[in-house]
Amino acid sequence: MTLLDAATKVRENAHAPYSRFKVGAALRSAEGHVHVGCNVENVAYPEGTCAEAGAIAAMVAAGDRRIAEILVIADSPDPVPPCGGCRQKIAEFAAGDVAVTLCTTDGKSLKTTVAALLPGAFGATHMDRA
Ligand code: THU
Repeated sequence: MTLLDAATKVRENAHAPYSRFKVGAALRSAEGHVHVGCNVENVAYPEGTCAEAGAIAAMVAAGDRRIAEILVIADSPDPVPPCGGCRQKIAEFAAGDVAVTLCTTDGKSLKTTVAALLPGAFGATHMDRA
């Protein structure tokens, strides 16, 4: 299954009664498996989780550790970008040159990279003196 198909399908399962904005994410791990996630909102709004966070959690729970490619889709006017927190979450498991494909449900897409989405990222080397 392509990442686009997987993300499109899982997006339908999103729990988004508050924003009514369903998001799907699919990633291929370096190990070659596809992991998916959707946003899961909560009546206590800050407790909601993003689609990307769900896909990453599924990847880690399955025993994979590296993202080779990731795709996000939503019904938005322009290709939907990961939020700031998700950019950091993706960077935890992906090299800077890893492709991130941003999609709309009506067929627009934009391909970028982890490094382009999170320039100047905080990383483990910043803690070298700790
Ligand atoms: N959302 C995601 O799942 N991923 C993104 O990259 C952007 C935002 C979700 C969070 C919330 O459930 C809804 O979209 C509106 O912000």
